[in-house]
Amino acid sequence: MCGIVGYVGGREAAGVILDGLSRLEYRGYDSAGLVVSDLDPSRRAARSAHALQVVKRAGKLAALRAAMAETTFVGGLGLGHTRWATHGRPNDVNAHPHLSEDGRLAVIHNGIIENYVELRERLAAAGHTFLSETDTEVLVHLVEESYAAQAAAGAEPDLARAVREALGHVDGAYALVVAHADHEVLVAARHTSPLVIGLGQGENYLASDVPALLPYTREVIYLLDGDVAELRRDRVRVTGLDGAQRARPVDTVEWDAEAAEKGGYEHYMLKEIYEQPTVLQNTLGGRLARSGTDVELDLGLDPRSVERVVITAAGTAAYAGEVGAALLTRLARLPAHVEVASEFRYGEPVVDERTLCVVVSQSGETIDTLEALREAKRRGARTLAVLNVKGSSISREADDVLYIHAGPEIGVASTKAYTGMLAAFALLAVWFGRARGTLADDEAAALVHGLRELPNQVASALKRRDEVAAVAEAIKGARSALYLGRGVNLPTALEGALKLKEISYVHAEAYPTGEMKHGPIALIDAAMPVVVVATASTLLDKTLSNVQEVRARDGLVVAVADEDDARVAAVAQHVLRVPRTLEALSPIVAVVPLQLLAYEVANRLGRDVDQPRNLAKSVTVE
Ligand code: F6R
Repeated sequence: MCGIVGYVGGREAAGVILDGLSRLEYRGYDSAGLVVSDLDPSRRAARSAHALQVVKRAGKLAALRAAMAETTFVGGLGLGHTRWATHGRPNDVNAHPHLSEDGRLAVIHNGIIENYVELRERLAAAGHTFLSETDTEVLVHLVEESYAAQAAAGAEPDLARAVREALGHVDGAYALVVAHADHEVLVAARHTSPLVIGLGQGENYLASDVPALLPYTREVIYLLDGDVAELRRDRVRVTGLDGAQRARPVDTVEWDAEAAEKGGYEHYMLKEIYEQPTVLQNTLGGRLARSGTDVELDLGLDPRSVERVVITAAGTAAYAGEVGAALLTRLARLPAHVEVASEFRYGEPVVDERTLCVVVSQSGETIDTLEALREAKRRGARTLAVLNVKGSSISREADDVLYIHAGPEIGVASTKAYTGMLAAFALLAVWFGRARGTLADDEAAALVHGLRELPNQVASALKRRDEVAAVAEAIKGARSALYLGRGVNLPTALEGALKLKEISYVHAEAYPTGEMKHGPIALIDAAMPVVVVATASTLLDKTLSNVQEVRARDGLVVAVADEDDARVAAVAQHVLRVPRTLEALSPIVAVVPLQLLAYEVANRLGRDVDQPRNLAKSVTVE
């Protein structure tokens, strides 16, 4: 949420910043801006004022790019920002960077300054003029105040010290970067919101997320809470808010630049949907034992010490958790349930040292999930994170991590991370089931075999895009849709409905199939598509009866069914076919046509599939 990019070195900063912002636009796209400072001493001397060059525009990055075409930005130091508005409407003024009145100091920020109202009142009373409605602008004036106080005391002002002093007044979450026209340094600070340094030769980079750095470097330093970093061309220094030096390790990112490109697909979302067979191979790879009956997980956790499981996450990750809870209950006979993270952390949860709290997150930065993890730890629970992004905040704080290895997910609507998470939960359920003696050899062997088959089965489901497109054509005019599923596939219905609403803006809601008659049936008419997950299950007969109830009321039924099924096809107007697998694993194949259906409907309605309105990836504010 909000993308940050910084650069200092020998290249033209404007190009690097713009390129980085385009790779981070999924983090926010309601406005963007950048600042460039010229490091060349001769050119700097020639400038009438040593002011920073700035440009900001409301709207997507294209608007900023167009505005930049009118001017030449020269200089080797710069910072840029794509915004997802919290305080203040998305317009040119509220866009970042925010500058001091003399135009010499610039700040970009991701997060929320919680005490900004009182800070703003105090600073305004002291004579500071505020131009925007943002919380961020108080940071400009606080840094300016500390900077001016140093100068007034006769000292050579130190920008990093001014930033540290300013942050002493601030409550809230931030990743911020500060530049000053008189200093060849970027000063960055982090508390809760992510920030990563990219190390180059004679140049250094900053970003809120790794994909912005990949074309330039894979050597990175992840900043931790309370860190303040000074980036110069030739060195990086990290201190605490007290100014004391902090040692931070250099990590090498596994992803390459290509992984974060569209690779010939029209949208990132489509590319990521089609990457799912590979993601499943990566998630399962090396974790299915040669014996054919076991799963090998590199966890410090003793499975026999766990008496119950609480899963907490947000959005799509929480739906993956719902499948996980069902599998842990069914296969490992472990009581397991899901609480969305934004509720869990304030809900006085009952957890103790015999409780395993599983947090699930693609980004590893979702603030609700991170805080839920911290709450679980405070209450003594053992914690395990099912995660995609290495080096993320959650990866550092959880006791154990099970990575899904999905590669960078750029499309705002999560797809490949979801199926990766489902595979991770299937592994976990088999692992617990074997350790707890609830899964006999033959059952375990069937599951392990079923897991091995999944990448090919998902690849085969993906070959049916044309059939999905025909259904999208038939339902694209609908104003609302009902999704039904039960058991392990209730979350499939929930996830299918979420995908449709977030990228096509068509209202959709999901219900347990058996609940339809208790209310939602009143909505059914010929104009409302009813999407039913009807793959093989012990309850398929009951699902078929419910489908008949929809048909009896002129409802339009779209069913997800097994390739070899004949019964569902006899009652549904449209069938989306998927390869047959075990019921426990069916959510992994059944969700694929629903992802494609949402994509095809959104595309037909002319929506911006990768950047749906009002949303942003990696929600780092509460
Ligand atoms: C939906 C979607 C969101 C995320 C949620 C959690 O398509 O992407 O609902 O799943 O914001 O994000 P992570 O998994 O990064 O914690």
